[in-house]
Formats: sequence, structure tokens, C-alpha cells
Amino acid sequence: MMKYLIGNWKANKTLDEARSWIREVKSRMEKVHPDLRVALCPSFIHLRLLKDDFPELTLGCQDLSPYGDGAYTGAVTARMLEGLVEFVILGHSERRRWFQETSLTVAQKAVQALDFGITPIIAVHTQNWREQLRALDDSLMDRVIIMYEPPEAISSQIGPIGQGDAAPLEEVKAMVEKIKERQDVKTVIYGGSVKSHNLTTFLSEPQIDGVLAGSASLDAEEWVRMIRIASEAIEAQAKQ
Ligand code: PGA
Repeated sequence: MMKYLIGNWKANKTLDEARSWIREVKSRMEKVHPDLRVALCPSFIHLRLLKDDFPELTLGCQDLSPYGDGAYTGAVTARMLEGLVEFVILGHSERRRWFQETSLTVAQKAVQALDFGITPIIAVHTQNWREQLRALDDSLMDRVIIMYEPPEAISSQIGPIGQGDAAPLEEVKAMVEKIKERQDVKTVIYGGSVKSHNLTTFLSEPQIDGVLAGSASLDAEEWVRMIRIASEAIEAQAKQ
């Protein structure tokens, strides 16, 4: 069964810091389990560097334009990103909170992404998840990944990297099950304070299709450790 491990750098790292991360990850990297889909979502400015210097790494981005090419100053369109990224994170609680992203723009961005072969990872939070998916056409549901991420579980918002408590497993399982009751939703992952020490807890649950990690993906050593632990968890599950 395929599992996802998605990294979200958020607004972090200069190009030089990204170069050091690449060097360190490459020097530590071990075999990735074939059923593990690893992807990193850095900021736009890092994409070309990562693509050229680390071609084995699958890339995603953290936003894209709700419109196509044209007179939209400051926007990065799905057509520009085609072939460079496979995923885009949309509707993250930080985007909704600091950049006024609405369910409607999330839906528009998802359509743009899908038109150019980019899979949207759409974030929803606790009770109002139905509302947050409302603007999304039902026919697209089986082509997107839904991420359940309660904002209070996001460690990088709380304090220094490494702080924060993930949501309780029972709560995550219940939410994932509820979201999957919408028959067309196939893939639901969890995000919020996922680190190497709690990764196996989430990946060992058959209903949870993977995780997204923010702060843990910034640290090269921790990221490689997570890939190893995720690969082992998948292997262990396959043997059961
Ligand atoms: P975190 O962030 O892993 O630092 O909690 C998760 C996210 O919001 O992407």
C-alpha cells in the first residue's frame, strides 16, 4: 500500500542553505521503500536548484495562481510549474490565515493544478472540513490528496523547531475515516508535528495514507531518518 511522506519547508532557507541540505541529505541517503512516495515542497526559488542538483527527489510547491498565464503580477502559474513539481499544497491553515486564501480560491487553484498534471494536497482542519472542501467539484475528489491538519498541532507555529504535539492518533483516525466517507475521496494524509519519533504511529495505520512534515523536513539528518523509519514501517506492515 502506497504511503506519502511530504516535506513542507514553508518560508525557510536561502539558496545556500538549500545547497547544504542537498549535500547532507545525499551523503546520508539510504534506500527508499518502493511503496513510499517522498516529496519535498520548498519555496518557488528553490525548485530549479533542487531539480538540477537532486533529480531523484520529487518536488512539490506551496501555492500556485488561481489564474492562467497573463497580467497577474506576482503570480506563478500551474503551466510554469508543469514538469517541475508533482504536488502543490493548497489551503494550508497558514495560507488561509495570513494570505486570506478562501475555499473558493483553493478550488480554483486545484483546477489549475490538475489541468497541468499537478496533484493538489488540500489541507482541511477539524470540524469545518466539509465547508473547506465545499467549493471543490465532486468529480475532482478522487484526483486530490486531502490533508487533515489541526492548526494547534503545527509545531513550527508554536516555537523553536522541534516543539509541538501531534494530534492524538484516535482523533486523526476518526477524521480520516470521516473524510473518506465521502466516497470519492481516496487519499487522506495527516500533518502537524510529525517527526521521526512519532512517524511510525501514523504510518502503521492502514487508513492513514501518509504524513506531511514541516519543521522536521528542514533538518537534513532528521529528514533522512524519517525516510528510513517510514521505509521500515511500510516493510513491517507488508509482512503482517
Ligand atoms: P510542522 O508543520 O511539522 O512543523 O508541525 C506542518 C505543516 O504545517 O506543514
